[in-house]
Amino acid sequence: MREYAAYLSLIENRLKECASPKDPDSLYLPIRYTLEGGGKRLRPILLLAACDAAGAPAENAINQAAAIEMFHNFTLLHDDVMDRADMRRGRATVHVRFDERRAILSGDTMLTLATSLLADGCPSALLPDALALFNATAIQIYEGQQYDLDFESRDDVTVDEYLMMIRLKTSVLLGAACALGALMAGATRDIIKAFYRYGERLGLAFQLQDDLLDTYGDPIVFGKEIGGDILNDKKTWLRITAMAEDTSGVIDAETTAPSPDKIERVKAVYDRLDLAARCRSLIDRYTDEAIEALASTPISRSARDFFSELALSARTRNH
Ligand code: IPE
Ligand code: IPE
Ligand code: MG
Ligand code: MG
Ligand code: MG
Repeated sequence: MREYAAYLSLIENRLKECASPKDPDSLYLPIRYTLEGGGKRLRPILLLAACDAAGAPAENAINQAAAIEMFHNFTLLHDDVMDRADMRRGRATVHVRFDERRAILSGDTMLTLATSLLADGCPSALLPDALALFNATAIQIYEGQQYDLDFESRDDVTVDEYLMMIRLKTSVLLGAACALGALMAGATRDIIKAFYRYGERLGLAFQLQDDLLDTYGDPIVFGKEIGGDILNDKKTWLRITAMAEDTSGVIDAETTAPSPDKIERVKAVYDRLDLAARCRSLIDRYTDEAIEALASTPISRSARDFFSELALSARTRNH
């Protein structure tokens, strides 16, 4: 296994090649703006590391890693339009910096670039499985994103429905990234499945942490505006639990007639119920399940340590 930083630099270099200027600039400029704007690159790093752990050089899967990151960035462009989000990675979102029409179209372009990258250099024996996984994952993400939107206007969303929704919108992509890495290394079905489960469990922890940071993060470090989920009535675990347990009527009142202090007032309810700490225990549970998923796979000690440390760092991340 290599260091985390080595996988990061591999993917950064490949993405730079994907961001060269082309005409019309009005289409490709927002794409460059997005790809050059940072991001943790978690999904491609998972993919490259899984390829390595499953016994092939990470370079074998570099295009597939770039495909997954390109796809992720496409979802972010459209997600920010849907969530009316003005800031990402510490900068104006694409629909704010450029405009909504270009955010849609450059997002579409990134989706197609992602599919091309996926097939580029993929051995023909692996391509049908890689494509099937990629396409099934993409559809699940769209379904999850639609549930996320539908839930905004519902007040009876359960924790189980929330978990189903975040599994679709977020977890399956982390699962697919890990599985694709193992697939590109020619791993057995059992190993691919174990990597998928690792990524999927990690994804649940990851989205719970994202939701926590949306209320409790530092906007400078997190790079996104704080309180967007509260303003949009997103049915996060925090919100669902507060609606079930709080008797003050604050959440109902802020849903039907939002005050200018909506974020602070809803957050005060969360604080009273100690929801941040309780959410962290849930995150710990899914992180442990992620680590457990690789327990019986025949990978090296250093690979196991890499994936355990990565899962544990997702628990404490602040951006
Ligand atoms: C943001 O993903 C979308 C979620 C699934 C929460 P990341 O937090 O991985 O975003 P970047 O790519 O690092 O900016
Ligand atoms: C994002 O969920 C999931 C996808 C982009 C598919 P969020 O809407 O919570 O992600 P952020 O917080 O905007 O990054
Ligand atoms: Mg969203
Ligand atoms: Mg969003
Ligand atoms: Mg979020």
